[in-house]
Amino acid sequence: MRLENKVAVITGAGSGIGKATAVLFSKEGAKVVIVDISKKRGQETLDMIREKEQEAIFVPTDITDSSQIKSMVAKVMETYGKIDILVNNAGLYVQGDVISTGEDQWDEIMAVNLRAAFLCCKYCISQMIKGGGGVVINVSSEAGLVAIKNQVAYNVSKSGLISLTKSIAVDFASQNIRANCVCPGTTETPLVTSALAKQADPARARRALEEIRPANRLGKPEEIAYGILYLASDESLYATGAILSIDGGYTAQ
Ligand SMILES: NC(=O)c1ccc[n+]([C@@H]2O[C@H](COP(=O)([O-])OP(=O)(O)OC[C@H]3O[C@@H](n4cnc5c(N)ncnc54)[C@H](O)[C@@H]3O)[C@@H](O)[C@H]2O)c1
Repeated sequence: MRLENKVAVITGAGSGIGKATAVLFSKEGAKVVIVDISKKRGQETLDMIREKEQEAIFVPTDITDSSQIKSMVAKVMETYGKIDILVNNAGLYVQGDVISTGEDQWDEIMAVNLRAAFLCCKYCISQMIKGGGGVVINVSSEAGLVAIKNQVAYNVSKSGLISLTKSIAVDFASQNIRANCVCPGTTETPLVTSALAKQADPARARRALEEIRPANRLGKPEEIAYGILYLASDESLYATGAILSIDGGYTAQ
């Protein structure tokens, strides 16, 4: 029970990495706040956790809207009285270089992947400080560390998350706030399967994604969740401003 009685807000907890993290955190004793724009997916995660008689609430939220984030934080404070852990996980993916990426696509990716993480930090960290401290984990990507071809908006948003992580680490260490990020490699989630489905030959595109990394396979959401758990727990008390790559060796090359 590495997170016993901790209150953990997880964005994008209705699917993929966020869902695996919510389920793992609840097994480790956390009270989980599922934040997702999709009522259906958020409810599914809530049902999975409650079936195991573990503690969670679902607060449907569009994290591109700061008023909805403020209401979500108010709901968490009313229900649990504190926030110990924030996992900024919700994200969108789009392909394109600077010429083919539309202005609206750029703005949408930045709004969800980067601005929303800033907003969640802004409104959760002030509560964490009142409670004596807390931990932020940002879900960046291998694409935040190296530029992956034909996905400029995504790459830039994920690089920005790394800088956000380091900035929070240096600004708030004296107030007992830690901030770290994980950089997953390609992981089997709906985000990836829907991107693959848009390719002319999805099976071949998937093989190509596997072959470019030393581990020669895609990651599983649970494998990323374990890294997030480590950074959320007291096992990583001396880690702040750190980047944990979990990418089958992709960025080691
Ligand atoms: N899957 C991968 O290969 C991979 C690799 C590296 C990094 N990541 C990052 O991990 C994170 C999770 O990815 P995933 O693959 O699990 O994605 P996913 O698409 O399976 O799940 C993302 C969730 O975020 C929610 N969401 C989207 N916009 C939202 C909004 N405005 N407000 C609230 N919720 C919103 C969606 O409803 C969805 O449930 C993302 O930030 C992604 O960029 C994923």
